[in-house]
Amino acid sequence: MGKTVLTGIKPTGQIHLGNYIGAIKPALRLAENESYQKAYFVADYHGLTKIHDQNQLKELSYGVAAAWLALGLDPDRAIFYRQSDIPEIFELSWILSCFAPKGLMNRAHAYKSLAEGNQRSGKDVDAGINMGLFTYPILMAADILLFQSELVPVGKDQIQHVEIARDLAESFNKQYGKIFTIPEYIIQEETSVIPGLDGRKMSKSYNNTIPLFEEPKKLQKLINKIKTDSMPAEEPKDPDSSVIFALYKEFATIEQTVEMRRRFEQGIGWGEAKKELFGVMNSFIAEPRLKYDELIANPRKLDAILYDGAKKARKKTIPFLKEIKEKIGIYQ
Ligand code: TRP
Repeated sequence: MGKTVLTGIKPTGQIHLGNYIGAIKPALRLAENESYQKAYFVADYHGLTKIHDQNQLKELSYGVAAAWLALGLDPDRAIFYRQSDIPEIFELSWILSCFAPKGLMNRAHAYKSLAEGNQRSGKDVDAGINMGLFTYPILMAADILLFQSELVPVGKDQIQHVEIARDLAESFNKQYGKIFTIPEYIIQEETSVIPGLDGRKMSKSYNNTIPLFEEPKKLQKLINKIKTDSMPAEEPKDPDSSVIFALYKEFATIEQTVEMRRRFEQGIGWGEAKKELFGVMNSFIAEPRLKYDELIANPRKLDAILYDGAKKARKKTIPFLKEIKEKIGIYQ
C-alpha cells in the first residue's frame, strides 16, 4: 500500500490565498499520486480554540469543506471528513497528553507567542489563553498519528506541530513498542510565505488576507489595495520583491510568468500589474467559485459527503485505537 498523506485546515476564517497556495494546492498536488492514500479534513475542533460563536463556527466549517471540494478534492479517492465526527481522535488526544511534557507545550510557538505578548504588555502571562489553545499540538498529533500518516503537507508555521507529533510518537513507541508511524512534514519551499495586502505574511491575524472565493468586484478592489511603492511606470521593477508578482505566478502559466517577469524588468505601472493579476486570478477561480457557491448553498450535501468520509475513516480509527488501548493497559 502507498504512503498515507494527511492534512487538515481549521475553520477560523474565510479561506484565503495563503491557505490555498500554502496548504490546499500542495496537498491536492500530492493527491494526484494515485498510489497515496489521502486523508483530508476540516479541523473544526481546532477552530473551537478561537471561534466561540456557534453560527460562525458552523459557517466557517462548511466554508473549509466547500473549499476543499471546489478546488478539486475528490471524496471518492480520499477520505474526507470532519474532525469532530471521529471520536477516536479525542480519545487518543487524551492518551497522548499523558505523554506530552508540559515544557514541550510551553515551547509550542502559538502558545509561546501569545504568552510573550501578554508579558510584554504587562498582563498575566496566561491572560486570554484557553487550555484548548495550549494543548492544540496534542490534538494535532492525535489527528496525524491515528491515521498512521507518513506525509503531512503543511504551511511553514505548522512544522513545529508536526515535530511535536513525531516526539510524542517516538516516546510512546519507546515505551510500548512500535505502534505509531513517525510522520514527516512536507512544505512548499518556494511558496512558503505568501505575502498579504501589506507585504507581511498573509494571515488572518494581520487582517491582510485576500479571500479566495471573493466575487470579482471585491477581488478587484482588494487587489487594488496591495501596497506598492511610488516608482513611476517606466522604471524597471524587481519581480522577486513584488507582492503582485509573487501572487501572479501562483495563478499564471509558465509562459505568462516569464512574460510578466520581462514586463516588470522593462517597467510596468503598478495599476497595470494589478489588472493583470486580477485577470489571472479571476479566470483561475471562476469555476471553483461557482462550485463553492453551489456547495455553500447546500449544506445537507456537504453533511452527506462528510458523513460518508467519517464512516470510511472510522473503519481505520476504531481498530487502531483499540490496539493502542490494549498496549497501554486499558482493556475493552
Ligand atoms: N494546525 C493546522 C493549521 O492551523 C490545521 C491542522 C489541524 C492540521 N490538524 C492537522 C494540519 C493535522 C495537518 C495535520 O493549519
